[in-house]
Amino acid sequence: MFRVGDDFEKIQASRPEFKRDVPVTFSQPPNPSWKQGEGANDGGESLKKNHVEIDPYEEGRPAASNYKLLISGMVPRPIALISTKSKDGKTTNLAPFSYANVINHDPPLFTVGFVGSLDKAKDTLKNLAETEECVINIISEHFVEAANATAINAPYGSSEWEVSGLTQAPSTVVQAARVKESILAIEGKLVETKEFESRSTPGKKSGVLAIIEGVRFWVRDDAINEDKSIVDLKVLKPISRLGGISYGRTTDAIEIPRPQF
Ligand SMILES: Cc1cc2nc3c(=O)[nH]c(=O)nc-3n(C[C@H](O)[C@H](O)[C@H](O)COP(=O)(O)O)c2cc1C
Repeated sequence: MFRVGDDFEKIQASRPEFKRDVPVTFSQPPNPSWKQGEGANDGGESLKKNHVEIDPYEEGRPAASNYKLLISGMVPRPIALISTKSKDGKTTNLAPFSYANVINHDPPLFTVGFVGSLDKAKDTLKNLAETEECVINIISEHFVEAANATAINAPYGSSEWEVSGLTQAPSTVVQAARVKESILAIEGKLVETKEFESRSTPGKKSGVLAIIEGVRFWVRDDAINEDKSIVDLKVLKPISRLGGISYGRTTDAIEIPRPQF
């Protein structure tokens, strides 16, 4: 894995080429004959290991260490590539956010965490708070570099659409465009925001949670089944966020039936 100070281009060049057509395959779970009460499937190996206890605010621990620990440990995370429009309708914005997830389906609800405050909001949050609208686009393998490019720290009003080369497609319910390359895009309306205060710098607002309701789904026609209820993983080929600058692919899956009491 790349670390600050490494010659990234050299490391990248030494790696095998991306295999574009890796199929999604299903294998058996580690212990297909697992019985209730059996616990871990490693024969007790994990119980021989010890843990390091970390107080996130222990003396001398920089806040960045918590950021790095959380983004490398809470993985893989879905990435919401969020499209917004300014209130005056003159500028558009596109940026990725991986403090993001679906939290309910009736109504369809999504959360996104923005680092910073409403006062000094990232462009996406400023637009979302002012217009109460956005489109959440899911990132697939076929446009991962372009999606990553939208994280550029462009000044307010300059559009990441151009930098990325991605294509705007019209939305129905909201003003912001959806990403045409995206297999799954969700038009959303802001439900509420909640600001959080920093623990290391009391008084400073350091994070904003946005709750967004999905009001329209767009699924590419070769990725949705007949009754419009399942998105095909083999077509979606989703990209997730891992630690540092790493992204994950989902090409190997297992199935385990739900337990019945
Ligand atoms: C894959 C990825 C995930 C990211 N996730 C988040 C996130 O969850 N919250 C956040 O505040 N910034 C996140 N960022 C950083 C923002 O994308 C970045 O600050 C961007 O410039 C914001 O754009 P905006 O000011 O146009 O909204 C992420 C960046 C990348 C590359």
